Amino acid sequence: MSKKGKFQTPKGIHDILPKKQKYYRKVYQVCKKIADYYGFQEIYTPILEDRGVYEKGTGEGTDIVQKEMFKLKTKGGEKLALRPEGTPGIARAYIENGMSNWQTPVKLWYFGPFFRYEKPQAGRYRQFWQFGFEIIGQSDAAVDAELIQIFYNILRELRIEDLSIKINSIGDEECRPEYIEKLEEYFKENKKNLCKNCQKRLKDNVLRILDCKNKKCNKVKEDAPQIIDNLCDDCHEHFKKVLEFLDKTEVPYELDPYLVRGLDYYTRTVFEVFTGEEDEEEGQNALGGGGRYDKLIELFGGKETPATGMAGGVERIVEKLVDERLTFEEPEKARVFLAQIGETAKRETFDLLEEFRKKGIKVAESLGRNSLRPQLNIADKMEVDYTLILGKKEVVEDEIIIRNMKSGKQKKVKLSKVVSEMKKKLK
Ligand code: HAM
Repeated sequence: MSKKGKFQTPKGIHDILPKKQKYYRKVYQVCKKIADYYGFQEIYTPILEDRGVYEKGTGEGTDIVQKEMFKLKTKGGEKLALRPEGTPGIARAYIENGMSNWQTPVKLWYFGPFFRYEKPQAGRYRQFWQFGFEIIGQSDAAVDAELIQIFYNILRELRIEDLSIKINSIGDEECRPEYIEKLEEYFKENKKNLCKNCQKRLKDNVLRILDCKNKKCNKVKEDAPQIIDNLCDDCHEHFKKVLEFLDKTEVPYELDPYLVRGLDYYTRTVFEVFTGEEDEEEGQNALGGGGRYDKLIELFGGKETPATGMAGGVERIVEKLVDERLTFEEPEKARVFLAQIGETAKRETFDLLEEFRKKGIKVAESLGRNSLRPQLNIADKMEVDYTLILGKKEVVEDEIIIRNMKSGKQKKVKLSKVVSEMKKKLK
């Protein structure tokens, strides 16, 4: 509540007003079109999940779980969280709904609100929308490349330009532990030159030092061992193939040996999508990101099931949707206005509006007004072709007046015939 006693949205959380809806809808429509094309099925998972889904899935040591989760406890003692991201909920749903018996791969997509208790700033909110695409059941490198291409296609269809995709492989349980050891050793030797945050990360999250944007850390990173030189043969081969497949597409990608992503479940391919110039110190807000998560389903008690996915940040994308070449689906304009005078006529209006609606004719009204003049003024402003006028006398005589708004000419027709009459006139 504000000082004046008026309620406001919580910090970092915003209304999405009618003016903005068309942009959100556009992003949804483009996602849906592309999802349909590539054979993804839409899924809604709950906004509230067992907190453990994220603690175990996203990872106990991640910023998301440690600092950013909105947690709540029900009266019954259940420990829940508002979903901070979609992938762990999808893995839970995959197992809970027996999707391993569905035809492989299971391709799912979603669009909805997510919650992170972050420091609000441009492009960073506490409630934000994401679309996400997940392909479960395939380990082939081609699938990773396809997913990146899908993301690219969505953004291009939305006319977002100047896109760049950063990509890396973070290996698997075979090669990553050894790499982390090397990295730890290297950073320990250079501990003094790391920022405070990264000195802490040395203890529990060495990989994250790689994507620190601090100038001091950047300098240290320059000579750090790179994962690409430390991948096992299988991961190396997999990554090489992802890049080869990407070379077959128009996707503008660049290797980024420092890209590690802040979620624990990733294996092998990781990527992020950007637009525009990068700020060297601040880095940049990614429009989206994703990667492979071959161990997550197993971690949740399912069979060993490789998977890969990505999610886009809708607010950040909507902020870029200014291209005048974009077309939006506008709601159909009413060509007919129904004006009523008096209570008897008003009652009759309800049936009539329903009849028109069932026949697919959009009719505007102003049920809160009672006299004719203001209703005609509204009809004028709406630029309808016809106004139907219904008073007590007309109801008693089972008639209604049709007024041509251009010529001002009026005629009476039987009330029971008005829908078919209007259908003919509007052809
Ligand atoms: P993420 O990188 O944490 O990945 O989030 C994806 C995108 O959501 C970000 O690139 C950004 O555009 C948007 N986003 C994240 N946090 C905020 C925020 N506080 N305010 C506004 N936008 C935000 C995931 O969430 C993974 N689940 C992606 C994935 C799917 N990986 C595999 N499958």
